[in-house]
Amino acid sequence: MPNTINIQRRRLLKFAGLTAAMATVYPFLSYAQGMIGMGNQASSDFEPDVEIELTQEVVDIPIFRGPETRVWKVFGKVLKGPETAIVNHAESYIAPTIQLQKGQRVRIILKNNLPAQSILHWHGMHVPSKMDGNPMYAINQGQTFVYEFKVLNRAGFYWYHAHTHSVTAKQVYSGLAGLFIVSDEEERALDLPRGEYDVALAIQDRTFDDQNQLHYSNHMMQRMQGFLGNQIVVNGQPDYVLPVASRAYRLRLLNGSNSRIYKLAWDDGTPMTVIGVDGGLLERPERRAYVMLAPGERREIWVDFSGKNVGSEMTLRSLPFEASMHGGMMGGMRGGMMGSRGGMMGGMRGGMMGGRGMMMAGSDLPLGSDYAVLKVKVSRQAQAQDKLPEYLTAIKPLRLQDAANADTPRNILLSMRHMSALLNGRSYEMDDIRADEIIPVNTLQVIAFDNGFSGGMGMGMGGMMAMPHPMHIHGEQFQVLKREIDPRFKPAYESVEAGFVDSGWKDTVLVMPGEKVTILKPFNDYKGVFMYHCHNLEHEDMGMMRDFLVK
Ligand code: C2O
Ligand code: CU
Ligand code: CU
Repeated sequence: MPNTINIQRRRLLKFAGLTAAMATVYPFLSYAQGMIGMGNQASSDFEPDVEIELTQEVVDIPIFRGPETRVWKVFGKVLKGPETAIVNHAESYIAPTIQLQKGQRVRIILKNNLPAQSILHWHGMHVPSKMDGNPMYAINQGQTFVYEFKVLNRAGFYWYHAHTHSVTAKQVYSGLAGLFIVSDEEERALDLPRGEYDVALAIQDRTFDDQNQLHYSNHMMQRMQGFLGNQIVVNGQPDYVLPVASRAYRLRLLNGSNSRIYKLAWDDGTPMTVIGVDGGLLERPERRAYVMLAPGERREIWVDFSGKNVGSEMTLRSLPFEASMHGGMMGGMRGGMMGSRGGMMGGMRGGMMGGRGMMMAGSDLPLGSDYAVLKVKVSRQAQAQDKLPEYLTAIKPLRLQDAANADTPRNILLSMRHMSALLNGRSYEMDDIRADEIIPVNTLQVIAFDNGFSGGMGMGMGGMMAMPHPMHIHGEQFQVLKREIDPRFKPAYESVEAGFVDSGWKDTVLVMPGEKVTILKPFNDYKGVFMYHCHNLEHEDMGMMRDFLVK
């Protein structure tokens, strides 16, 4: 595995470069060294309520007629606790759905039988640093990593996926992602559709070759824009049709795509009734003509099919929107890009402006084009009289004045230039915590993701590209405080802004070109390393990822 060698060589070089002074300032660093391939054992003093085994394997599964498709699949087994803790999806590459209750103590035994290093991360879950699936804990083929944590999260629709250094995109694409649903008493007391009327749907895009094999490439162009498949798959199935009864449903939607952003709407004009986002239910349902869903984000939708005849259909579509730069910006930006990169910019610009250029595999389903995502088909009548509760749950608003750094927001500058994707000008390095990335534990922090809002985006910006970045922070959920947009980006922005739902608990937030999004993020309970990164997985693997050290 050349990758292993590379990482180890890098780490060695890094270690050699660590000065004594740095080691004293950040004693954590010496601890983090050499964790890859160490695995983790069960601890004797942890009494789990639920014990789960997850095994990662290379398997062939029948997705299409003809040759089976080789995927990387997670198989789950409940060793202790309710059988409902795991739902395997035999027909699909999608990993088993994990279903837990708030307050449960869970042990998850991960066995890696893949011909590669790997590690799983519980996206949106508030767990100790060591249980969070940081790439430094990747295990080799044949090794085991035991996670142990208590479910502190409120009821919500979380998920999990591979988080392996520099190959997260490839591994998630190959199948290493699944749903992680937490419920609690408060949620159970609500009159929401449950059981078979509560359906979780992972939306992804894939490209299959003529032998039914997953095609993935991450040449320069795909990495800059992110990989776009030419086919939408839902829970691992192409042309997904959900058979429903004529009554209300709770649909949980995950964008588990590597880079694709969706602008979701019902084709018959029914508004999208949003009842939940990344970190669980909203205070009240919110209606939108369309809803934006960026990689890593979740939305829970309430939808009532009552009164519809058996056989009738509704389609959830992704509507057209402008994904990147616009108008006046193009001149300066294109100039800069042409200047520095010459001929290839034709293709890039084509792809970004709507796929007219020579974009590779994803070109027949460009970002921001108009296409069907899934279909709902009424297959039987039901008698239910469903009423959507007007009030769902209390969301205590976080307050700026309670932030430890209320007057000095931590600014995180998002940039792409010269074929690199950076946060505050830095690329991801393991064990590379800078002073501005150290956060005192049990504090509330104000953090601003600045995607070219504060200057630098004009004519003088050189080779910088304006792209949307879905920004994610590990650990506790945060709240969005405000959004600000550079007026020059307004025209493109107007094609998406009515689809943001910022009122609940979030762990991933879409930051559009020219936009600055300010959030309030608690860092409670756990010390250690917690990542922040762009959830465009190609950007992440290109280095648009860093660690916070909570101490
Ligand atoms: Cu969904 Cu760091 O990841
Ligand atoms: Cu995460
Ligand atoms: Cu990005």
